[in-house]
Amino acid sequence: MIILGIESSCDETAAAVLTNENNRITILSNVVATSAKLQAKYGGIIPEQAAREQIKSIIPVIEEALSMAQVTSNKLDSIAVTYGPGLIGSLLVGVEAAKTLATVWNKPLIPVNHLLGHFYANWIKIESRVMNHESSKKMLGLSTLVTSDLPKFPSLGLLVSGGHTNLVLFTDHNKYKYLGGTRDDAAGECFDKCARLLNLPYPGGPEISKLALQGNALQVDLPRPMIKSKDYDFSFSGLKTAVANIIGNSELIVQREDLAAALEQAIVDVLVTKTIKAAKEFKVKNIMLAGGVAANQKLKDDLRLKIKDLRIKTTLHVPSPELCTDNGAMIAAAGFFTKPAADPFKIQADPSLTL
Ligand code: KG4
Ligand code: ZN
Repeated sequence: MIILGIESSCDETAAAVLTNENNRITILSNVVATSAKLQAKYGGIIPEQAAREQIKSIIPVIEEALSMAQVTSNKLDSIAVTYGPGLIGSLLVGVEAAKTLATVWNKPLIPVNHLLGHFYANWIKIESRVMNHESSKKMLGLSTLVTSDLPKFPSLGLLVSGGHTNLVLFTDHNKYKYLGGTRDDAAGECFDKCARLLNLPYPGGPEISKLALQGNALQVDLPRPMIKSKDYDFSFSGLKTAVANIIGNSELIVQREDLAAALEQAIVDVLVTKTIKAAKEFKVKNIMLAGGVAANQKLKDDLRLKIKDLRIKTTLHVPSPELCTDNGAMIAAAGFFTKPAADPFKIQADPSLTL
């Protein structure tokens, strides 16, 4: 089985070719073109601009993924594409490209929910890779999934990205239950907005983390919104307001480093508390992290510490950093395990698709 995965839901244009031989999945190519430099210049994503960049990149990225994998269209068994959620202009580019290729090449087309795709990055374990940077494109190839290391069910997924914060219980492939999510800002969005308040560049998460290393979280008192609520929902906009109030209060003298450390600790405390609560309630065997914030070291460290105290042996799965942010490999991996193919003419981009 050889599958082409296409992803264009936000500001990354990505395509990857993966093979599956008896559940041994190999990444033959994984190409990502990002307009992150543009977003950094404007301090965030401008949807129309992101869509224009998608149009410029989609064909070259798909061509490069196929040529790096040394796979021609006649060798492909199927195509998987993100059909939502995301920015409509960006989504349309990948979906229409995939529909056209599936029709012209006569291949089955598998529509993939982007949020599920993020979790399927955990089914890809990289053994060896070749990194090659060329302008804004990131390429990585020759990667292998080690089957003994795969998540086992029941598995709890925590998706923490710039646009999403979701807790999902997986009892099998295609069998999952949405437990809760953010009611306002996503965890990554909170990092990004607070970084902006601190005059740090976009994306803000890694910048806050770097600054936090030199600070003391105990020096600043920040709220832990909804940490004690009985549900599995989150809320991060109040935290951003608290940070804004501290910065705007001229009578308070607070070190930037301490504020960054306190913010990171507050976000991590809420994420870890709710995740551990769900792990206990549903007696899961694994916890899977997914999304850009899964690269946060404090989150991984604190979660690992708390997992040790659980009664049931629980392992933590975290995708390699390249597979935490948007990429085509996770969409192709999800394509192998999830939905069957659909009629290309019936697949529509759905910006507000849920789990
Ligand atoms: O998954 P992703 O590309 O976003 C969406 O698809 O929505 O992740 C980007 C997000 C940004 O908000 C960024 O600030 C955050 O992930 N991020 C981090 C770290 N690295 C990236 N947040 C905290 N700590 C990090 N090390
Ligand atoms: Zn994403």
